[in-house]
Amino acid sequence: MKVSGITPSGRPQLGNYLGAIRRWAVDGSEHDLYFIGDLHAMTTTHNPAKLRAQADESLAVLVASGISPERVFVQSDLARELGALTWVLECTCSYGEAARMIQFKEKADGQAGVRLSLFTYPVLMAADILLQGASEVPVGEDQSQHVELARALARRFNATYGEVFTVPRAVLPLTGARVRDLTDPSRKMSKSSPDAGGVVFVLDEPDLIRRKIRRAVTDSGSTPVYDPDGRPGVANLLEILAACTDRNPRDVAGEHATYGALKEAVAEAVVEALRPVRERTTELLGDPAELARIRKAGAARAAERGEHRLNSALRLIGA
Ligand code: ADP
Ligand code: NA
Repeated sequence: MKVSGITPSGRPQLGNYLGAIRRWAVDGSEHDLYFIGDLHAMTTTHNPAKLRAQADESLAVLVASGISPERVFVQSDLARELGALTWVLECTCSYGEAARMIQFKEKADGQAGVRLSLFTYPVLMAADILLQGASEVPVGEDQSQHVELARALARRFNATYGEVFTVPRAVLPLTGARVRDLTDPSRKMSKSSPDAGGVVFVLDEPDLIRRKIRRAVTDSGSTPVYDPDGRPGVANLLEILAACTDRNPRDVAGEHATYGALKEAVAEAVVEALRPVRERTTELLGDPAELARIRKAGAARAAERGEHRLNSALRLIGA
């Protein structure tokens, strides 16, 4: 069983959808779990009301994209279980091994008022994985050190106090298209981008999507050619179009005579690809009782899945 999280540090965007969520819905196994990692979004400056809205929107987008509600939960709905397990795991982790986490050094570098939780979040991540008994964790290179930590903690706990945890391993994630920022194709499209003009959000209205894509940076050429290094803006548009229409960016390139025509085609393809997700997400967000029911059921299942591990771990460590 695999567990994957998405951090609601912003609103779900096209890159999340084409690169991850759509793949999870189509190719994911029925045993995989997905969670909205809102506790992880509290490790840096955040706005509580916004975070709550972003967590609900993220959950709604996952379900609207076709991921079974049985397979999703919001992390903070398990705050008590995860808080307790994080403590157990902090008592299993040495300060030295936590201090070796490269991500902390990168994220904290030059920042004032760094939260302690930014330092300890890899232990919460270990709790996310170990509570559910996940054997595999699909992560990119940037998170593999954290999965190594979860492995080390599971092994150490099992050897010191008794066999409780499945020892997880990092696996390659299911990946779809890599979507770049529309106004700065040197960086990936991200929900936490400072410039929303370069980001298509899943819930953007069709006309806003069209405007953003029309304003996407290209280059001094005029006829679309697929050249990711030399012409990253146009390559990004071709990749988005190819992903939305299940084709290959090179094949798509030959079909549009001008950048203007390409942009129109990209805009329509994105609008159409997102339309059913946007409609279903909007429907869910407009039905708070249904959303609450989905959250509650997902949390109950996830808590139940972890209950015996948490209870055993507490007892074995001396509680
Ligand atoms: P963000 O940068 O938007 O905060 P996350 O780090 O929360 O994204 O990533 C959630 C999932 O979406 C991950 O599986 C990640 O690989 C995928 N993802 C995020 N941005 C993109 C992108 N621009 N293109 C493709 N996949 C992406
Ligand atoms: Na992010």
